[in-house]
Amino acid sequence: MSTNLKSAALLICVALAHSTTALAQGGGGRGRFGAAGASDGPPPVQLLGGRFKAYPQDAADRGLPLYNTNCGYCHGERAKGGKSGPDLVTSDVSLHDEDGVGIGEYLKGAKHQGVAKLDLPQSTVYDIAVYIHSRITVAALNRGGDTHPDEVLKAGNADAGKAYFNGAGGCTKCHSVDGNLKGVGAKYDAVTLQDRIVMPQRGGGRGGRGGFGAAPAGPPGPLAITATVTLANGQTFRGIPVRVTDFDVTLRFDDGSTQTWARNNGVPKVDLTDPLAGHIEIMKTLKDSDMHNLTAFLATLK
Ligand code: HEC
Ligand code: HEC
Repeated sequence: MSTNLKSAALLICVALAHSTTALAQGGGGRGRFGAAGASDGPPPVQLLGGRFKAYPQDAADRGLPLYNTNCGYCHGERAKGGKSGPDLVTSDVSLHDEDGVGIGEYLKGAKHQGVAKLDLPQSTVYDIAVYIHSRITVAALNRGGDTHPDEVLKAGNADAGKAYFNGAGGCTKCHSVDGNLKGVGAKYDAVTLQDRIVMPQRGGGRGGRGGFGAAPAGPPGPLAITATVTLANGQTFRGIPVRVTDFDVTLRFDDGSTQTWARNNGVPKVDLTDPLAGHIEIMKTLKDSDMHNLTAFLATLK
């Protein structure tokens, strides 16, 4: 378990390195900025470990109750399989699904219609699929089996975690127990809490909601990656990077408008800011014992 969490952190670092490369190469395909092009497209995607697409957390949150009411009574709790439906975490259909399209088609197929006559709007299927993908990611990151919140808590020492949080961990640079981490121990069970320490959720990258049909306008979410373009004359523009290549750069501004500049030999300059970069840096040096202690400490913040 512990080693797996560590490798989870490393996977994320690899994923970030990976998406930087994708940017340098023109951001095509399924890199972080996706194939969004200069027009409206899907929100930027990030691949965890170069394999898992990081879907918006709000969709996964919506997906959980939708899953429980529409699928859970057959496919079991957390999609792990139930009395009358197979495990969806290890299902080929789920693993090959993208954006709920494959799962949606499967549900409409004769085979599944024979067992459950479901007729759900695609937006609902999308949310359910995102929830299933979140379970797949967790299962992959926690290879070694199911973990129980009690075990996670027992593995750590809250006092040691507190000392680390306020001292060597450097967590107080960005967090405070009465501020942005207030009540975090009540917000998540211990397993989820530990996941969040390793991998805070970025949510919608583009501004506000993220997810299917996200509104393009509005200020970027607090965790969105932003870019600053500096022209040769020193003038700067800041916005959400829609496309960044060696040859052009497109930003989207708060009002939803976009602007594109041609680039030549790195001019205009483009600087990307990732609010989670500092968090990810820390995870590289975090020892497993620190991780367990931090979880035990944060779990006391109720
Ligand atoms: C009445 C029980 C029932 C309900 C409700 C149900 N399923 Fe199923 N599901 C099954 C059974 C039985 C199978 C295996 C037979 C088949 O493939 O259709 C299955 C198979 C699947 C498979 C293919 C698994 C594989 O790889 O073989 C997927 C994906 C799936 N279900 C998704 C869902 C989703 C998503 C929902 C909710 C929106 C749902 N199911 C609701 C019973 C159910
Ligand atoms: C450079 C800034 C930075 C540092 C240092 C940092 N974090 Fe974070 N952390 C963030 C950001 C940004 C988020 C996402 C925004 C949020 O949820 O508040 C976050 C989110 C979290 C979350 C999820 C909160 C939630 O409500 O979902 C936890 C838990 C967390 N951090 C724990 C830690 C711990 C423990 C440390 C020290 C080892 C640490 N962070 C150090 C920036 C930082």
